[in-house]
Amino acid sequence: MSHTHIHPYSATRNSLQQHHIIEVPGDKSISHRALLFGALANGVTRVSSLLEAQDVNSTRSCLIQLGAEISRDGSDWIVQGRGAAGFKAPTDSLNCGNSGTTIRLLMGILAGQPFEAHLHGDASLSKRPMKRIATPLRQMGAQIQLTDDQTPPVQMTGTRPLHPIHYSLPVASAQLKSAVLLAGLAAEGMTQLTGHTHSRDHTERLLKHFGVHVEATVQRGNPNASLSIQGGQTLSAANVNVPGDISSAAFWLGLGALIPCGKIEIQNVLLNPTRTGILSLLQKMGARIQFEITSTEPEPVGTIQVEHSDLRAIDILPPEVPTLIDELPLIAILATFAAGTTTVRGAEELRVKETDRLEAIAKNLRAMGGEIELYPDGFAIHGPQTLRGAAIDSFGDHRIAMAFSVAALKAQGSSEIRESECVAISYPTFYETLNELTGSR
Ligand code: S3P
Repeated sequence: MSHTHIHPYSATRNSLQQHHIIEVPGDKSISHRALLFGALANGVTRVSSLLEAQDVNSTRSCLIQLGAEISRDGSDWIVQGRGAAGFKAPTDSLNCGNSGTTIRLLMGILAGQPFEAHLHGDASLSKRPMKRIATPLRQMGAQIQLTDDQTPPVQMTGTRPLHPIHYSLPVASAQLKSAVLLAGLAAEGMTQLTGHTHSRDHTERLLKHFGVHVEATVQRGNPNASLSIQGGQTLSAANVNVPGDISSAAFWLGLGALIPCGKIEIQNVLLNPTRTGILSLLQKMGARIQFEITSTEPEPVGTIQVEHSDLRAIDILPPEVPTLIDELPLIAILATFAAGTTTVRGAEELRVKETDRLEAIAKNLRAMGGEIELYPDGFAIHGPQTLRGAAIDSFGDHRIAMAFSVAALKAQGSSEIRESECVAISYPTFYETLNELTGSR
């Protein structure tokens, strides 16, 4: 276990004149899907700028156990597709590590593969809810056993063809939506999803890129489209160039807004509207932030620039939550330094992420002398507050470690981020970039 010490940021005479141009590692959601869809496709898929971090490594090693060949070619990765029904039964349990996306999307794929599989993960993943995935997949014909707490390990037996279902998504979870869409590919007929479909749409976009049609029908006055997928469609290999992860970029947007370290420009970053809630939020908080889309297929990508300014509080309402769900730990930090009362509601999903992120935010803010009011589904923070350096418990959660590293730069006195090695789950070079931007190399 390693701890990282962070000292408060101290501006030099020319820090405000600096113009930092950076890129962030590949988007985690798209990286998982590029490997999974490449393995399901007919043909050879080349993936550029794949995120090389623990979560995506988990997906890669599970796919290899299922018979996929995935190899490196320079800085690219090459996936030899196995075809829709080409996976082989794994001889050992599939280790999904810390990754909810790995276990949930694999369950969707394995529902349609006629063999037994066992999936497990680390202590954090072993506490995460899987009934939401098992329920629709069982209705489609897969046999799935969970623990009494409805958590992993998962024991399942797939079958092909599955039954198509009409299913109303009870939560706005892209992992759930994706699992059912992927199972739908192995069903005989049309699978239709309604309800909370408005989570991140990378599965829909990337399936299209691999030649699969997902029909989206929008009803007037309803933000949720219904999604339909016809079973039996096959994926054709397609090259994927993974853009930078906006959820990783978010830490630098927060840092750039909060501390006078000059202009930060982040190039080649994902700007998909189901993920850019953090940009609209920062704009509403009065941040000096601009962005520009430079290409759109298969995903919108562009450049973001941010500079220091005073921030004001904002109310985040339930419909906005899915577009900024992974950024909420950082948003709590922004709220602490913003003038007025920031409220977040409708974010109960934070309680079932890598850790209970609402508790983790509250515990660490209070350790720094901050005040926060916690709700079952969100929080209220009255700002601006002064924080003092403290020992921060990351709870082994990468986004808690990174959000509080940004907070530590604005605190009075030094902080220690405990178990900071967990940043390697999504952003192994996080502290190198933090040192570069703050001049503390
Ligand atoms: C993800 C979906 C989100 C997100 C996670 C990645 C994905 O989870 O928090 O980091 O790649 O589909 P939920 O589907 O549980 O909302």
